[in-house]
Amino acid sequence: MKDKFFTGKNAELTIEGKTYPLPIIEGTEGERAIDIRDLRKDTGYITLDSGYMNTGSCASGITYLEGSQGILNYRGYAIEELAENCSFVEVAYLLLHGYLPTYDELRHFSYLLGRFALIHEDMIHFFDHFPPNAAPMAILSSMVNSLSNFYPEMTENPLEDIDIIATRLISKVRTIAAFTYKKSMGWPLVYPRHDLTYCANFLNMMFDSPVKPYEINPDVVSALNKILILHADHEQNCSTSAVRLVGSARVNLYASISAGISALWGPLHGGANQAVVAMLEDIYASDGDYEKYIKKAKDPNDPFRLVGFGHRVYKSHDPRSRIIKKACDEVLVTLKVSDPLLDIAKELEEVALNDEYFLERGLYPNVDFYSGIIYRAIGIPSNMFTVMFALGRLPGWIAHWKEMWDDPNWRISRPRQVYVGPEHRPFIPMEDRVEEDHEEPDIY
Ligand code: ACO
Repeated sequence: MKDKFFTGKNAELTIEGKTYPLPIIEGTEGERAIDIRDLRKDTGYITLDSGYMNTGSCASGITYLEGSQGILNYRGYAIEELAENCSFVEVAYLLLHGYLPTYDELRHFSYLLGRFALIHEDMIHFFDHFPPNAAPMAILSSMVNSLSNFYPEMTENPLEDIDIIATRLISKVRTIAAFTYKKSMGWPLVYPRHDLTYCANFLNMMFDSPVKPYEINPDVVSALNKILILHADHEQNCSTSAVRLVGSARVNLYASISAGISALWGPLHGGANQAVVAMLEDIYASDGDYEKYIKKAKDPNDPFRLVGFGHRVYKSHDPRSRIIKKACDEVLVTLKVSDPLLDIAKELEEVALNDEYFLERGLYPNVDFYSGIIYRAIGIPSNMFTVMFALGRLPGWIAHWKEMWDDPNWRISRPRQVYVGPEHRPFIPMEDRVEEDHEEPDIY
């Protein structure tokens, strides 16, 4: 990496009078970084960067995102164009391989998705042993991890045929997600069908029933494709970093993805779409008094935040939210659904986008602001929203896992720390120990 992307320039770091050159590297879109890989060897020092606010964990060729202008590209292609012109399966192929598939490549990939859609019948018994109100994300994470027992051959030479590995997982996670919902409702399972496309198949498994056949609506299928595309990758976020970190120990793909699902489950990460709908429901229940919530959000003494607003990286707009808002409008019209939550969401957005507080801080609707309303309209319950996010993010996770596995610079991820605990002290035998005040270490 140093040779290829080295700018020929160095930064200089001076410690105790001695100056060390640090190579400056530049990515293909002009992002600059200081390469500190030899820092500890050369100086004896490490860097400290809690939350990795300034730390690049890898060089990656998958997704580019630029927050100040609201740019998001997968493999160089703008998210707007991909969402407008592609299916989710096409985008999954693009993320995995780095190029858009030809007709035949896509057909083969889709054929594999159909071929691997079933899960082993023994796995279906697992569903019976979760408590009735089990969290769908816990079920998903356990089931994906247990796939490694059912398909151990996939763990030996993982990159031998990436299409097989990826389609097996992408297809089975969809089946597991739909079965999780059916089991939670106590309804009979609906098996995958070879004649349906990826998203249509998912909707059918979710909503078809022996007593009321599900009518597949192409506009709903198209909206679902869009939502999954918008969630398909977002570079080194928390769950993707978890997949990479766990995978760096050379654990199998299923276990790595299971770790990513667990990370995504967190309310600070994948859970926001569910929280948005809960917030809109609260506003609705208080007679639509959204002004009160805006006031609360602006009050420095109130911890309340307008959920679905703001983003760590995007400070002008989240390109995904515009696409999702349009899709939301279209789906509600198609399904002839009139959702008062959508009206409240739009009013909130309108007020916030004209308010100094939000403008000054670069707070705009993020991807989660409207996605929950589409899910509601389609009939997906709110406890499945984060599962939907996982379904979308899966190709990104697999692409990052593959990139990490292939990386010539790969090392097991093993951060350092600055130790701030007690200094070395003599051991105390049991008979001499007394209760004492425990001092918390000072954390930097
Ligand atoms: N409502 C009201 N004020 C907000 C909001 C919000 N949603 N978000 C940020 N602010 C304010 C902060 O209070 C702070 O104000 P101050 O400068 O007066 O102290 C300022 O904006 C900057 O906020 P930070 O917390 O520093 O911004 P950060 O980039 O760390 O946080 C985050 C980003 C976590 C997304 C934040 O905007 C937030 O909590 N949003 C609501 C939750 C949400 O929608 N999360 C989903 C994110 S998208 C995703 O993960 C897929």
